[in-house]
Amino acid sequence: MSRLYFPKDFIWGSATAAYQIEGAYQEDGKGESIWDRFSHTPGKVANGDTGDVACDHYHRYKEDVELMKEIGLDSYRFSISWPRILPKGKGEINQQGLDFYRGLINELLKAGIKPVVTLYHWDLPQALQEEGGWANREIVKHFVNYAEILFNEFGDVVSQWITHNEPFVVAFNGHGSGDHAPGIKDQQVALQVAHNLLLSHGLAVKKFRELKLDNEIGITLNLISSYPISDNVEDNKAAKRMEDYINGWFLEPLFKGRYPERIVEFYGEKFNNLDIREDDMGLIKEEIDFLGINYYSRSLVRYNKDSKFLGIEGVKPQDSQYTAMDWEIYPKGLYDLLIKLNQEYTQKPLYITENGAAFDDKISEGGGVHDQDRIDYLKAHFQSAYKAIQEGVALKGYYVWSLMDNFEWAYGYSKRFGITYIDYENNQRRILKDSAYWYKNIIVNNSLEV
Ligand code: BGC
Repeated sequence: MSRLYFPKDFIWGSATAAYQIEGAYQEDGKGESIWDRFSHTPGKVANGDTGDVACDHYHRYKEDVELMKEIGLDSYRFSISWPRILPKGKGEINQQGLDFYRGLINELLKAGIKPVVTLYHWDLPQALQEEGGWANREIVKHFVNYAEILFNEFGDVVSQWITHNEPFVVAFNGHGSGDHAPGIKDQQVALQVAHNLLLSHGLAVKKFRELKLDNEIGITLNLISSYPISDNVEDNKAAKRMEDYINGWFLEPLFKGRYPERIVEFYGEKFNNLDIREDDMGLIKEEIDFLGINYYSRSLVRYNKDSKFLGIEGVKPQDSQYTAMDWEIYPKGLYDLLIKLNQEYTQKPLYITENGAAFDDKISEGGGVHDQDRIDYLKAHFQSAYKAIQEGVALKGYYVWSLMDNFEWAYGYSKRFGITYIDYENNQRRILKDSAYWYKNIIVNNSLEV
């Protein structure tokens, strides 16, 4: 047995998102969001689940901060629901919405837990969707106004801000495949949405700088490591295209002020049709303080000329292990990714803003939840992170997804990602899983036993 010690000021945290846990979907003046609309549309979410009640965090946030204290978290990453603050997305502010987040932040500060806020984790006010949502460039202005309200309100107590969570998913799942709200299936629209999201990010960062706030701002991307099935040239190119599609499309504009050329060629007309204005790329590149990374799995691919999807075909190795999402468990991918980011894109501080796994957890007869598979998953990924830090990567913190089981988007409540079990049948009772106790031990010792 040996111990891997993390850097002294390393931040151990956990993350959630508003729509996935809060519930109270129509309370205290909150407006409708696109996820309220989507989940209430039959056939969109597994089992007809909605976020109406979710984990009831809106009413139980104090109890939840107690859980965080019990686990010993240094920091908690959560998102603010735009329609709770601005029920119509713009115009009148809902004071009760601000009060809720003020209460949560105060509770966290009292407990010595550092709040990290995501401005947009997918729950756009429905009223803005009626005006075209993220596909309409006007939204950039509305997003910056919304951000400014929060910067002014909480700028002194929130030390780190994240503009967007996974713009890739908003663009391509929300507007390409359509399996997320608002359920649009149009690749051209998806590309425009990606651009508008990036622009809104850049302008929000610019606004943040203008306000001269004494804290940090960044963005969170879902990133993969992509590998070819063979060393054949075409397979290699397919793997690179996959990486450009998911990572490069966001990393290159943010850090290099351009879209990745290799894939621009593939998009052809669709790219040429985009509304990208003269100053946009410079604005998107506005300097950030850190990059947030959500890592879950890798991508293994081969070239297939018949595949409509950029000539790429995904490969599922037989001898690998998979989570309940059917995602391959591949911790080395996290190490490879961190090294690559460091070498090719930025030496800015990096944070793992999400990493974790869904498994079919059950309450045991003794009342506990024995999720050894989640412990194994996290352990292997922490080791990868450790190795990257040893090699000089400026990784400053790690947020486990998720603090609690929650509404897993199109999968509803059927997938459990939490280190806390939510007993939906029994009044949303909370039970810390074995992984939460295991995590507590790591945090206390700031080290991992291997
Ligand atoms: C999202 C979370 C989601 C998690 C697991 C990320 O894509 O940010 O909201 O629950 O992955 O799918």
